[in-house]
Amino acid sequence: MGLPVVGMVGGGQLSRMTHSAATALGLSLRVLADAAHDSAALVAHGVVVGEHTSLADLLSFAAGCEVVTFDHEHVPGSLVRALEQEGHRVLPGSDALLYAQDKQLMRERLHSLGVDVPAFAAVGGAADLDAFAAEHGWPLVLKAATGGYDGKGVWVVDDQQQAAPVLASGVRLLVEELVPLRRELAAVVARSPYGQAAAWPVVETVQDGGVCVEVVAPAPGLSEELALAAESLALRLADELGVVGVLAVELFETADGLLVNELAMRPHNSAHWTIEGARTSQFEQHLRAVLDYPLGATTPTAPWTVMANLLGPQDGEDGGDGGDVGGRGELDRRLHMLFAHDPALKVHLYGKALRPGRKIGHVTALGEHLDDVRRRAREGATYLRSGSWPR
Ligand SMILES: Nc1ncnc2c1ncn2[C@@H]1O[C@H](COP(=O)(O)OP(=O)(O)O)[C@@H](O)[C@H]1O
Ligand SMILES: [Mg+2]
Repeated sequence: MGLPVVGMVGGGQLSRMTHSAATALGLSLRVLADAAHDSAALVAHGVVVGEHTSLADLLSFAAGCEVVTFDHEHVPGSLVRALEQEGHRVLPGSDALLYAQDKQLMRERLHSLGVDVPAFAAVGGAADLDAFAAEHGWPLVLKAATGGYDGKGVWVVDDQQQAAPVLASGVRLLVEELVPLRRELAAVVARSPYGQAAAWPVVETVQDGGVCVEVVAPAPGLSEELALAAESLALRLADELGVVGVLAVELFETADGLLVNELAMRPHNSAHWTIEGARTSQFEQHLRAVLDYPLGATTPTAPWTVMANLLGPQDGEDGGDGGDVGGRGELDRRLHMLFAHDPALKVHLYGKALRPGRKIGHVTALGEHLDDVRRRAREGATYLRSGSWPR
């Protein structure tokens, strides 16, 4: 029908949910997946299996796409630039994406823009840690400059002995103060090439072991002043860094105000709640933005929305996939029970194999009363994961 083809590099759940939004818009989302069983590869029509670190694979994938975008930040910057030089439209572009890919460059750029960030330094060796600790004290946070996600690549270390294996791993590291944070927030916005921008309400995100487990929209008890500050900061960063698409700004709330932890230039876990909780979801908005369509309204559809991530079962928990082969299994039974228990709860499953702690889906509850909405979301996620109702 003459509608454009959008290419998304990466076949994870973000790509899968963007595919749903693309379907509604009548667009084709072409996906470059690592493997045929990747989350999005299981559902999208135009799936190419290839390597996001191979220029040849990226170039053949990009051919015929109106625009290429990303579901992760692991495509090397040199390859993103090479795609651009070959005339492909890549959004967000390499100049912006850099600051979502490399945590050291991100910190330096934010600092130079006058944005508050945790104290940080590059790490060459153990002596740098002593020097940093002399100023900021132990424990410290070591971070892989590139390639980390879901807390993989973040280590809180009490002393040199704990830091030693991380230093010995050979990954490029930065060191940060361990921020005495009250809680974590995220300000998520979208920006189009035309320069239009739109923000969703600032949310609270809850992490467990570096992995997001819950998002509450809007952030409870956040003063209007801080909410506005967070939103304006995200809009300003989108503009100054030239981001196109969704930009998530992860924030630490401290006694002294807000610090920026991290930037993500793609749909983000902290905005999954927008699928049901806002007039326009982050996935639709990302598509609209990269295609330079006018952006959709970000108005909330309920006073409160809570999203709880569904993580792969830990040891001793029965994830419910065992009986699935060739029949209606345990997970199917749990869905049945949960839907009977709470007909208003929304469940998203990503089609991913169960591994402990891996994000395999999420549930979303909406409503008038925060306590109730949060309880329902937690109940749904706990029951699907473990087969037991939380006590
Ligand atoms: N400097 C810090 N001080 C305190 N907590 C931190 C710090 N850096 C990271 N964290 C915690 O670790 C989580 C993951 O760190 P982050 O840098 O966002 O890595 P990832 O790329 O894995 O999301 C954060 O959401 C936060 O809970
Ligand atoms: Mg993070």
